[in-house]
Amino acid sequence: MFGRKKTREVEPVRRLFQNDALEVSVLSVIIALPADAMAPFLGLGGDGRGPVQIVTASRNVRELEADVARVKARIVVLHTKTSGYSPEVVRRIVDSAHGRVAVVVIGRAGGEWEIEAREAGAVAVYPEPIDAATVDRFVEEAPGLVDEIELRRGQLHADAELSEAVLDQAAQAPVDPAVIACWSTKGGDGKTTVAVNLSYLLTSWAQQRGLLIDCDMNGGSVAINLGQRPETHTILHLAADYQAADNRLNLGQLKKRVLSLDTGLNRISKKPESRLDVLFGITQPEQASSEPLFGAQGLAFMRDLIHTAREHYRFVILDCGSNISLAPHTAALFDADLVYLITSNHRRSMFMNRDVMGSLVSKGKLDPAKFKLVLNRYRNDTSWDIATIEEYMGLPVFGLIPVSQKDALTQADNTGRPFVATHMGRNDADDERVLKAFINLAGAVCEPARTLAAERERKQRGLLGRIGKKP
Ligand SMILES: Nc1ncnc2c1ncn2[C@@H]1O[C@H](COP(=O)(O)OP(=O)(O)OP(=O)(O)O)[C@@H](O)[C@H]1O
Ligand SMILES: [Mg+2]
Repeated sequence: MFGRKKTREVEPVRRLFQNDALEVSVLSVIIALPADAMAPFLGLGGDGRGPVQIVTASRNVRELEADVARVKARIVVLHTKTSGYSPEVVRRIVDSAHGRVAVVVIGRAGGEWEIEAREAGAVAVYPEPIDAATVDRFVEEAPGLVDEIELRRGQLHADAELSEAVLDQAAQAPVDPAVIACWSTKGGDGKTTVAVNLSYLLTSWAQQRGLLIDCDMNGGSVAINLGQRPETHTILHLAADYQAADNRLNLGQLKKRVLSLDTGLNRISKKPESRLDVLFGITQPEQASSEPLFGAQGLAFMRDLIHTAREHYRFVILDCGSNISLAPHTAALFDADLVYLITSNHRRSMFMNRDVMGSLVSKGKLDPAKFKLVLNRYRNDTSWDIATIEEYMGLPVFGLIPVSQKDALTQADNTGRPFVATHMGRNDADDERVLKAFINLAGAVCEPARTLAAERERKQRGLLGRIGKKP
């Protein structure tokens, strides 16, 4: 590394920080920054400040990656202007260090790089300008950044205990039935929460290739829950393509409009085939009445979309809005194999869901067998017990999701990462109950998810057993 071409400014700094033998109590940092952004960090060399000390400065990405492998640093700070930078570099560093390094990315204020860096695994992003205040913030935040990484790693570790053989087996078995609509007549019952978390489990965990379609004509929120900006990847764009092509739809058109969320988002599995494709929803409520999505045109489009998607994916999950007279919703309810009737134990939710389902069956001639009652936000301390609900709804409870006392599902929405993507490791009792509910839902349609769930249980019991044992 020292044999390479030296630059006047950087090399002395580099030598100054060269210190591989730091005590573990200090958080060792590698910086890879252009000279102007590096200057404010110089005070952290030598004896460092507080818990933070810079151990080396890399001039470009190639050096940085070598330094990460060589120096046991806990934090890497790099700039989007560092030679060779790309989000992929962040991903590589996180992966190569087995998730042990907290990566902080600096860049120009505003812009896509922040989202891309976070998706690639960066634990923090700092917008320019970089000055003494930024460095103070960094020193203050550093221990928290490392804690966050440890937390992520804990989850990774627990998941890594699932054997490759079991994961491979999972990838072979189909989801049955394949097209599931998440629906309820009342806002806020949990349609999007179930659609997103179920899709995520089936792709990232149970290794199925699937498509999540946000067809909620009241306004799509899948993009928000997944921390994405849909741009041209929306159902309206595809519906317009369909209309422009004389109502024809093929896989090429569909692929152009879906966004592939890779497993980098969750790091549960590194299997490249476990990709989740997403077709985002409308971004403005008035788009629901636009020509490509409305009336007979909207109905024809949605039916063809479901048909095409069914042919090319192992499963399709539809986040379906409440109003059954809007064409995309009608098509989803008619053409799905299963309709998860997401119901909270609020009387209004139960009453309306039962009533509207009844008329879909009696007037719309929908098969009653395709409605599956998924009770969400369930609390067993209310006046409605399960038997009463089943009797009232005329359906057995198919899935039961307890209320998250800690509001962890909303927190997950707000961070743009599905709850299940960050809770596959060890959880407290509240989160574990919610996680198990989603796992059970996945297991109900996908046999391998049951095998994986059993193995997760076994490993976690083993882990707890080992922790409990006296040395
Ligand atoms: N079991 C639960 N416990 C606690 N909070 C929950 C639970 N399920 C969903 N939530 C939260 O309730 C809110 C509404 O959920 P969600 O957006 O999934 O409902 P929705 O039926 O899709 O609503 P809309 O009709 O507006 O699209 C979200 O903040 C979500 O995180
Ligand atoms: Mg919703």
